[in-house]
Amino acid sequence: MPIIAPSLLSANFNNLQADCNMLNESQADWFHLDVMDGRFVPNISFGPMIIEFIRKTTTKVCDVHLMIEEPEKLTEQFKNAGADILSVHIEACKHLHRNIQQIKSLGMKAGVAINPHTPVESLQDILADIDLVCMMSVNPGYGGQKFIPHTYEKIKTLRKMINERGLNVHIEIDGGVTLENAQAILAAGADVLVAGNTVFKSADPKATIAKLKSL
Ligand code: DX5
Ligand code: ZN
Repeated sequence: MPIIAPSLLSANFNNLQADCNMLNESQADWFHLDVMDGRFVPNISFGPMIIEFIRKTTTKVCDVHLMIEEPEKLTEQFKNAGADILSVHIEACKHLHRNIQQIKSLGMKAGVAINPHTPVESLQDILADIDLVCMMSVNPGYGGQKFIPHTYEKIKTLRKMINERGLNVHIEIDGGVTLENAQAILAAGADVLVAGNTVFKSADPKATIAKLKSL
Protein backbone atom coordinates (compact mmCIF):
# COMPACT_ATOMS: atom_id res chain seq x y z
CA MET A 1 0.00 0.00 0.00
CA PRO A 2 1.35 3.42 -0.88
CA ILE A 3 2.03 6.18 1.62
CA ILE A 4 -0.37 9.05 0.97
CA ALA A 5 0.92 12.55 1.67
CA PRO A 6 -1.66 15.25 0.89
CA SER A 7 -0.11 18.66 0.24
CA LEU A 8 -1.61 21.36 2.45
CA LEU A 9 -0.66 23.93 -0.19
CA SER A 10 -4.12 23.36 -1.66
CA ALA A 11 -5.88 23.45 1.71
CA ASN A 12 -8.26 26.20 2.78
CA PHE A 13 -6.11 28.55 4.85
CA ASN A 14 -9.22 30.35 5.98
CA ASN A 15 -10.01 27.28 8.04
CA LEU A 16 -6.85 25.27 8.21
CA GLN A 17 -7.95 23.47 11.35
CA ALA A 18 -10.89 21.92 9.49
CA ASP A 19 -8.63 20.54 6.76
CA CYS A 20 -6.15 19.22 9.34
CA ASN A 21 -9.03 17.50 11.13
CA MET A 22 -10.20 16.01 7.84
CA LEU A 23 -6.70 14.62 7.17
CA ASN A 24 -6.52 13.24 10.69
CA GLU A 25 -9.78 11.35 10.17
CA SER A 26 -8.68 10.16 6.73
CA GLN A 27 -6.29 7.41 5.69
CA ALA A 28 -3.60 9.97 4.89
CA ASP A 29 -0.24 8.90 6.29
CA TRP A 30 1.77 12.11 6.13
CA PHE A 31 1.10 15.84 5.99
CA HIS A 32 3.14 17.22 3.07
CA LEU A 33 4.13 20.82 3.84
CA ASP A 34 5.50 22.95 1.01
CA VAL A 35 7.79 25.80 2.01
CA MET A 36 8.60 28.36 -0.72
CA ASP A 37 10.87 31.38 -0.40
CA GLY A 38 10.26 33.42 -3.57
CA ARG A 39 13.91 32.88 -4.51
CA PHE A 40 14.46 29.20 -5.22
CA VAL A 41 10.94 29.13 -6.64
CA PRO A 42 8.92 32.09 -7.94
CA ASN A 43 6.28 31.77 -5.23
CA ILE A 44 6.08 32.26 -1.45
CA SER A 45 4.00 29.93 0.73
CA PHE A 46 4.52 29.54 4.47
CA GLY A 47 7.28 28.89 6.96
CA PRO A 48 8.03 27.45 10.41
CA MET A 49 5.32 29.45 12.19
CA ILE A 50 2.48 27.86 10.23
CA ILE A 51 4.10 24.44 10.48
CA GLU A 52 4.25 24.84 14.25
CA PHE A 53 0.50 25.40 14.24
CA ILE A 54 -0.16 22.44 11.94
CA ARG A 55 2.07 20.27 14.14
CA LYS A 56 -0.26 20.94 17.07
CA THR A 57 -3.26 19.63 15.12
CA THR A 58 -1.86 16.21 14.29
CA THR A 59 0.22 13.25 15.39
CA LYS A 60 0.76 12.17 11.78
CA VAL A 61 4.17 12.51 10.15
CA CYS A 62 5.01 16.08 9.09
CA ASP A 63 6.87 15.80 5.79
CA VAL A 64 8.40 19.21 5.08
CA HIS A 65 9.52 20.02 1.53
CA LEU A 66 11.84 23.00 1.49
CA MET A 67 11.88 24.90 -1.79
CA ILE A 68 14.30 27.48 -0.42
CA GLU A 69 17.85 28.70 -0.91
CA GLU A 70 20.36 28.13 1.90
CA PRO A 71 18.17 25.65 3.80
CA GLU A 72 20.95 25.08 6.35
CA LYS A 73 20.16 28.45 7.90
CA LEU A 74 16.64 27.35 8.85
CA THR A 75 17.06 23.62 9.47
CA GLU A 76 16.93 23.99 13.24
CA GLN A 77 13.84 26.20 13.07
CA PHE A 78 12.01 23.55 11.08
CA LYS A 79 13.04 20.92 13.60
CA ASN A 80 11.69 23.10 16.39
CA ALA A 81 8.49 23.67 14.42
CA GLY A 82 7.94 19.91 14.42
CA ALA A 83 9.20 18.53 11.11
CA ASP A 84 9.71 14.76 11.10
CA ILE A 85 11.10 14.57 7.57
CA LEU A 86 12.99 17.47 6.01
CA SER A 87 13.74 17.54 2.29
CA VAL A 88 16.10 19.99 0.65
CA HIS A 89 16.57 20.57 -3.08
CA ILE A 90 19.75 19.25 -4.62
CA GLU A 91 19.74 22.36 -6.85
CA ALA A 92 19.80 24.64 -3.78
CA CYS A 93 22.64 22.94 -1.89
CA LYS A 94 26.32 23.50 -2.61
CA HIS A 95 27.20 21.17 0.23
CA LEU A 96 24.40 18.66 0.11
CA HIS A 97 26.17 16.03 2.21
CA ARG A 98 26.68 18.56 4.98
CA ASN A 99 23.02 19.59 4.81
CA ILE A 100 21.92 15.96 5.11
CA GLN A 101 24.21 15.38 8.10
CA GLN A 102 22.79 18.50 9.74
CA ILE A 103 19.19 17.31 9.27
CA LYS A 104 19.99 13.85 10.64
CA SER A 105 21.99 15.17 13.57
CA LEU A 106 18.88 17.08 14.67
CA GLY A 107 16.92 13.82 14.72
CA MET A 108 14.90 14.24 11.55
CA LYS A 109 14.66 11.96 8.54
CA ALA A 110 16.42 13.46 5.54
CA GLY A 111 15.13 13.82 2.01
CA VAL A 112 16.54 15.18 -1.22
CA ALA A 113 14.20 16.80 -3.72
CA ILE A 114 15.06 16.95 -7.41
CA ASN A 115 13.61 19.15 -10.13
CA PRO A 116 12.30 17.66 -13.40
CA HIS A 117 15.54 18.46 -15.25
CA THR A 118 17.84 16.89 -12.66
CA PRO A 119 18.96 13.35 -13.51
CA VAL A 120 18.40 10.70 -10.84
CA GLU A 121 22.01 9.62 -11.40
CA SER A 122 23.07 12.78 -9.56
CA LEU A 123 21.77 11.10 -6.39
CA GLN A 124 24.20 8.20 -6.67
CA ASP A 125 26.64 9.47 -4.02
CA ILE A 126 24.05 10.64 -1.51
CA LEU A 127 21.51 7.84 -1.82
CA ALA A 128 22.93 5.71 0.99
CA ASP A 129 22.69 8.67 3.39
CA ILE A 130 19.05 9.62 2.89
CA ASP A 131 15.59 8.34 3.75
CA LEU A 132 13.63 9.80 0.87
CA VAL A 133 13.86 11.20 -2.63
CA CYS A 134 11.19 13.77 -3.41
CA MET A 135 10.99 13.58 -7.17
CA MET A 136 9.31 16.61 -8.68
CA SER A 137 6.93 15.68 -11.46
CA VAL A 138 6.15 19.37 -12.11
CA ASN A 139 8.34 22.45 -11.84
CA PRO A 140 8.12 23.43 -8.18
CA GLY A 141 6.32 26.58 -7.12
CA TYR A 142 2.63 25.97 -7.63
CA GLY A 143 -0.03 23.37 -6.98
CA GLY A 144 -2.41 22.16 -9.66
CA GLN A 145 0.08 21.69 -12.52
CA LYS A 146 0.22 18.90 -15.07
CA PHE A 147 2.30 15.77 -14.45
CA ILE A 148 5.43 15.55 -16.65
CA PRO A 149 5.38 12.06 -18.28
CA HIS A 150 9.21 11.74 -18.44
CA THR A 151 9.00 11.20 -14.66
CA TYR A 152 7.99 7.56 -15.21
CA GLU A 153 11.41 6.74 -16.67
CA LYS A 154 13.14 8.54 -13.82
CA ILE A 155 11.17 6.57 -11.23
CA LYS A 156 12.13 3.27 -12.88
CA THR A 157 15.81 4.19 -12.98
CA LEU A 158 15.83 5.35 -9.37
CA ARG A 159 13.97 2.24 -8.19
CA LYS A 160 16.63 0.13 -9.89
CA MET A 161 19.45 2.14 -8.26
CA ILE A 162 17.87 1.71 -4.82
CA ASN A 163 17.09 -1.99 -5.16
CA GLU A 164 20.45 -2.93 -6.66
CA ARG A 165 22.17 -1.50 -3.62
CA GLY A 166 19.64 -2.92 -1.17
CA LEU A 167 18.83 0.53 0.20
CA ASN A 168 15.70 1.57 2.02
CA VAL A 169 14.83 4.93 0.46
CA HIS A 170 11.31 6.18 -0.24
CA ILE A 171 10.48 7.46 -3.71
CA GLU A 172 7.98 10.26 -3.27
CA ILE A 173 6.31 11.73 -6.34
CA ASP A 174 5.32 15.35 -6.05
CA GLY A 175 3.19 17.27 -8.52
CA GLY A 176 0.23 16.51 -10.74
CA VAL A 177 -0.65 13.19 -9.10
CA THR A 178 -4.24 12.23 -9.95
CA LEU A 179 -6.54 9.24 -9.52
CA GLU A 180 -5.85 8.51 -13.20
CA ASN A 181 -2.03 8.40 -13.13
CA ALA A 182 -1.36 7.22 -9.55
CA GLN A 183 -1.46 3.53 -10.44
CA ALA A 184 1.15 3.94 -13.18
CA ILE A 185 3.36 6.00 -10.86
CA LEU A 186 3.31 3.23 -8.27
CA ALA A 187 3.86 0.54 -10.91
CA ALA A 188 6.99 2.40 -12.02
CA GLY A 189 8.37 2.03 -8.49
CA ALA A 190 7.26 4.96 -6.34
CA ASP A 191 5.88 4.33 -2.86
CA VAL A 192 4.83 7.80 -1.64
CA LEU A 193 2.21 9.92 -3.40
CA VAL A 194 1.90 13.64 -2.74
CA ALA A 195 -1.46 15.04 -3.82
CA GLY A 196 -2.62 18.62 -3.41
CA ASN A 197 -5.32 19.53 -5.87
CA THR A 198 -6.49 15.96 -6.36
CA VAL A 199 -7.35 15.72 -2.67
CA PHE A 200 -8.44 19.21 -1.68
CA LYS A 201 -10.37 20.15 -4.83
CA SER A 202 -12.30 16.89 -4.89
CA ALA A 203 -15.92 16.71 -3.75
CA ASP A 204 -15.04 14.17 -1.06
CA PRO A 205 -11.37 14.52 -0.02
CA LYS A 206 -11.50 11.64 2.46
CA ALA A 207 -12.88 9.28 -0.18
CA THR A 208 -10.23 10.45 -2.64
CA ILE A 209 -7.50 9.71 -0.10
CA ALA A 210 -9.04 6.27 0.49
CA LYS A 211 -8.99 5.60 -3.26
CA LEU A 212 -5.31 6.57 -3.52
CA LYS A 213 -4.51 4.43 -0.50
CA SER A 214 -6.23 1.38 -1.99
CA LEU A 215 -4.07 1.40 -5.15
C1 DX5 B 1 4.81 22.07 -5.87
C2 DX5 B 1 4.70 21.41 -4.51
C3 DX5 B 1 3.73 20.28 -4.50
C4 DX5 B 1 2.35 20.69 -4.87
C5 DX5 B 1 1.56 19.51 -5.28
O1 DX5 B 1 5.79 23.02 -5.85
O2 DX5 B 1 5.93 20.90 -4.08
O3 DX5 B 1 3.75 19.60 -3.28
O4 DX5 B 1 1.69 21.38 -3.88
O5 DX5 B 1 0.32 19.95 -5.69
P1 DX5 B 1 -0.52 19.19 -6.79
O6 DX5 B 1 -0.77 17.81 -6.30
O7 DX5 B 1 -1.75 20.01 -6.87
O8 DX5 B 1 0.28 19.22 -8.06
ZN1 ZN C 1 6.01 19.37 -2.32
